[in-house]
Amino acid sequence: MDRKRLPPLRGDYTRGVTDFAGRIDALTIDDLRAAGSLKWTAYPGAIGAWVAEMDFGMAEPIFDAINAEVGALRTGYAPMDRRAELRAATAEHLLARQDWQVDRDNIHWLPDVLTGLVVTMTFWSEPGSKIIVPTPCYMPFMDMPRTFGHELVQLPMLGGQDSWEFDFDGLDRVFAAGARLLVLCNPHNPIGKVYTREELERICEIVDRHDGLVFSDEIHAPLVFPGAQHISYASLNDVTAHHTVTALAASKAYNLAGLKCAQLVLTNPGHNAFYSSQGHGIPFESTPVGMAATIAAWRSGQPWLDEVIDYLFANRQLVAERIAAIGGMHMIVPDATYLALIDCRGLGLEDPRAHFLDHGVALTDGIECGDAARGFVRLNFAMPRPVLAEALDRMENSLR
Ligand SMILES: Cc1ncc(COP(=O)(O)O)c(C=O)c1O
Repeated sequence: MDRKRLPPLRGDYTRGVTDFAGRIDALTIDDLRAAGSLKWTAYPGAIGAWVAEMDFGMAEPIFDAINAEVGALRTGYAPMDRRAELRAATAEHLLARQDWQVDRDNIHWLPDVLTGLVVTMTFWSEPGSKIIVPTPCYMPFMDMPRTFGHELVQLPMLGGQDSWEFDFDGLDRVFAAGARLLVLCNPHNPIGKVYTREELERICEIVDRHDGLVFSDEIHAPLVFPGAQHISYASLNDVTAHHTVTALAASKAYNLAGLKCAQLVLTNPGHNAFYSSQGHGIPFESTPVGMAATIAAWRSGQPWLDEVIDYLFANRQLVAERIAAIGGMHMIVPDATYLALIDCRGLGLEDPRAHFLDHGVALTDGIECGDAARGFVRLNFAMPRPVLAEALDRMENSLR
């Protein structure tokens, strides 16, 4: 990356450093708190390692696209050409990165990925029906089924020493007991699992046998580390295409969650025909700025994201080494995302999340991710490496 293409950071923290990693390394806790994200403002005094935001600034093409949009005062409803372009850019991205050919007319905009789950529960799940959520899960999946009039069925992952395994027999059982919708998170927040083709095929066989439906949340797909390969579940074969609703976004990989733009991919022709024909009945809009940022991310963001993934790869290594050296803690190294789920049950702490917050590190409590993560904490390692080292020091020292 040459000097001109360096990413904008919040505020002027460049301090003369001209490489991506050097600029990120130079950010201090005070810089990050002054920059004012949710992650850094909710717990004054603590290092923000909880909500899934990154501290790495923004890819320059995205920054330019946002500025152009605001400069042109396009802050009303998204213009027609933006909508068409978003569909085209998403289709190009899926083909280029995932070898998945999707018709543009099957791609719709959403404000965010969670609205995709609302759509799926509202239109394609029987009222009151059971929704299967493999746990540990992304926190809202624990609550949203109930909020929208459904029943949550937790399907705990089988946690080994080195990997998390999907419970295929359990899936068979809960479908047989009347569940119809599986919420598949791939890559899987908070465990960082990237499902293999064989695993997805086994899931497909079970879902198909029970005439089930899958909501595939692929928001973390661009954040896969070398050695793993993301496969979109609906891209697997005609059967998965038919029984899947997919939601994705550039928002996690490019830190754009506040701009409210996600994509819904409807590969079941019935779903697509229904959704496309509802006119004013579909109130789930996006924003012109969010669309412009997403188009720039999908078309021009990859060089920046490559730098981010390199940086995160080294951060992941640091977390894995430090956690392995602390007695009573254990983590299965994530293949994707910037989140590490750490098993603290060996520490003998009543409330590990509260303990670490008292010692200056704000983490997510595992119990919010389901019973399978009771006694765990989730650490967001998308921060400058010296700050991450300080967070790990604080955690380790708190146990002395
Ligand atoms: C797996 C997963 N799904 C959905 C979301 C939320 O995305 P959105 O803000 O687009 O609803 C997140 C946010 O971290 C996530 O990790």
